[in-house]
Amino acid sequence: MQEKFTVLKWGNNLSTGLNWQNEQHKTLVEQINKLVNQEDDTLDDILEFTKYYTATHFRDEEAMMVHYDYPALDAHIEEHGFFVNSMQEIFKENQKDKIKIRKILTELSAWLMWHIKNSDKEQADWLIKNTNIKNHQPTEFYEELENYRRNN
Ligand SMILES: [Fe+2]
Ligand SMILES: [Fe+2]
Repeated sequence: MQEKFTVLKWGNNLSTGLNWQNEQHKTLVEQINKLVNQEDDTLDDILEFTKYYTATHFRDEEAMMVHYDYPALDAHIEEHGFFVNSMQEIFKENQKDKIKIRKILTELSAWLMWHIKNSDKEQADWLIKNTNIKNHQPTEFYEELENYRRNN
């Protein structure tokens, strides 16, 4: 059997106080591990899904941050941008080069782990402490986020 790589492991150290966020992070961790183990015929599908899922996840976090006027909003959005750009790189240049893809993904996964443990945790802690976020879902604030994105 082929060796399986686990570059990211879900654990309590990644957990924030927000359930929807934890569920999404779990899926992202799962996806990244799948990508690193890329099976030939499914690589494109997994990449497509990861790109889509990342965009969805970042939209949800950003909608909450915009609505509640999170103080570190801009810095956090910038961090998401870095991840999105790195994903684009995989699509553009290295789509068929598995060794390069694995290298980028390994770096990206370390970055994601860091982002969740630090920036997402800080964000969730602040939102839980200062707002009524637990009574709301990100979808409620998509429009606000769209307006914000148009004006920034
Ligand atoms: Fe996140
Ligand atoms: Fe984030």
